[in-house]
Amino acid sequence: MILSTLRSLFYRYGEKVFSHRTLKNLHIDLWRMRARIIHRRRGLTPPSPKLHLGCGGRKVTGWLNVDVIGSDYDIDLGQGWLPWRNNSLEAVVSQHVVEHLDLTRELVPLFRELKRACKPGAELYISCPDMEKACKFYFDDKGEEMLFNRKSRFPSFDLGGVPTVQMINDLFHREGEHKNLFDLELMKWLLETSGFSQVERIEEADLLDRFPEFPARNDDYVSLYVKAVA
Ligand SMILES: C[S@@+](CC[C@H](N)C(=O)[O-])C[C@H]1O[C@@H](n2cnc3c(N)ncnc32)[C@H](O)[C@@H]1O
Repeated sequence: MILSTLRSLFYRYGEKVFSHRTLKNLHIDLWRMRARIIHRRRGLTPPSPKLHLGCGGRKVTGWLNVDVIGSDYDIDLGQGWLPWRNNSLEAVVSQHVVEHLDLTRELVPLFRELKRACKPGAELYISCPDMEKACKFYFDDKGEEMLFNRKSRFPSFDLGGVPTVQMINDLFHREGEHKNLFDLELMKWLLETSGFSQVERIEEADLLDRFPEFPARNDDYVSLYVKAVA
């Protein structure tokens, strides 16, 4: 009731009252609040021991696909705890989600919770934009190759005359949605601080070899892929 009133006020007056930036943040924060309110139980047995974290529109059959909205189990990944019982997960995959969360306030508690919920030896696969590659793109050609790659994946993509360096800005900021980019050192710190080990850089093909049911993103050129063990 409160949520639907807030939502209708938001849709009716939002654009008149708020900046685009504030509106976007309010939008996701309303979803996060909704997820926190509707799912409060702890100690649950997951319907699948394979967790797809931040699935977006790419739900994968046989996996428990979670996101803040529209998923198998809507959850705010920044809430500091996970609903699943200890030692109940065998694999976790998360692609291009960690950059949306605050490093120390949200990601460290999230990964500590993942470690708690994982069986010893469970595999963790994470991908996100690669800070090292972003910096290299700037010094190599100020984003021209990035633009070429993006156009080969999304032919209608167009920068509208803005210099190609904007591709790199977008990777860092994504209209304020991205909180941090990672290089291998920072990712290793996050995972080891949270109790994971054997952190290694991999490629998308390694993830797809292990779990062929995942649709390819073809994004090695811009992404950091890592594997770790619980
Ligand atoms: C760039 S999309 C990636 C989606 C998908 N993994 C893919 O590879 O296409 C980032 C996803 O993270 C989710 N996300 C961001 N912040 C979140 C949060 N606090 N709780 C749950 N999901 C969140 C978004 O809803 C979105 O689906």
